[in-house]
Amino acid sequence: MPRPRVYVARRLPEVALERLRAAADVAVWETDEVPPPREVLLRQAAGADGLISLLTDPIDGALLDAAPRLRVVSNYAVGFDNIDVAAATARGVVVTNTPGVLTETVADFAMALMLATARRLVEADRYTRAGQWKSWMPMLLLGPDVHHATLGLVGLGRIGAAVARRARGFAMTVLYHDVVRREDLEAELGLGYVPLEDLLRRADFVSIHTPLLPETRHLIGAAQFALMKPTAILINTARGPIVDQRALYEALRTGRIAGAGLDVFEIEPVAADEPLLRLDNVVVAPHIASASVETRTQMALMAVDNLLAALDGRRPPNLVNPEVWDRRRT
Ligand code: DGY
Repeated sequence: MPRPRVYVARRLPEVALERLRAAADVAVWETDEVPPPREVLLRQAAGADGLISLLTDPIDGALLDAAPRLRVVSNYAVGFDNIDVAAATARGVVVTNTPGVLTETVADFAMALMLATARRLVEADRYTRAGQWKSWMPMLLLGPDVHHATLGLVGLGRIGAAVARRARGFAMTVLYHDVVRREDLEAELGLGYVPLEDLLRRADFVSIHTPLLPETRHLIGAAQFALMKPTAILINTARGPIVDQRALYEALRTGRIAGAGLDVFEIEPVAADEPLLRLDNVVVAPHIASASVETRTQMALMAVDNLLAALDGRRPPNLVNPEVWDRRRT
């Protein structure tokens, strides 16, 4: 049996690449700073049996049509909005993702953004480094408390629930809204299920934890900001397009809401002249919520294991479109 050919769209932790190279002929896009250009991705996919893609690689019908041998697309992310899953399913291509391993790390980062935005940590850092600190002052860099505040979780999947667990340690009141009600977690964590409008009206912190779907695109826009408290802070570690970024800028600029902590943007990388970046009440990060050493390694190993299972005829542990697998078996 010839060894399968695999294209990896970015360098991954070496331990995962080693595991992959032991079982397949592997080509890797070596440039960290930019994703493979479309023509490179098309050319590489054309000869590949398996592809490890990132959230920066659009995997659509045209690419799949150009890749007749392709059996599996293993996404190095829990989110898979970069992949046209229906197109993959229609062509019998298995799609996998990396759920679970990044839950706690992303939840840590959501808390970090909440604390940094509320307590103005980035402003304080800039202020101190700039030599502006002249005296201890009762009114210097005041912000709202996080402890005992009300947190509204938009989405209560794995990551939303992990944030709720952390929020309990801060004695926060936690409300949530989701299309699926989780009475088990309500009982376990003392959460309140409310309609989205109520959540927006009542929360001091609104943290987004839904996947990006047609139904969640611009879920939070001008109408939703209009409901929020003027003291409220928005946190987004999910996907940028869930929030209408122009409306967010207006809400922040006009004091409609008090602040935002953002790891994700409508267009990534965010442009240096993006108006949001000029606002002091915004803390930003370059989509790094899952970026711990341990988690990125686990994600890479999981992506490799998913891919090798599919190429080996074993059911991949993290199937996004199980119907493709089940169809093959019948
Ligand atoms: C994901 O996995 O979807 C994140 O956005 C990157 O870790």
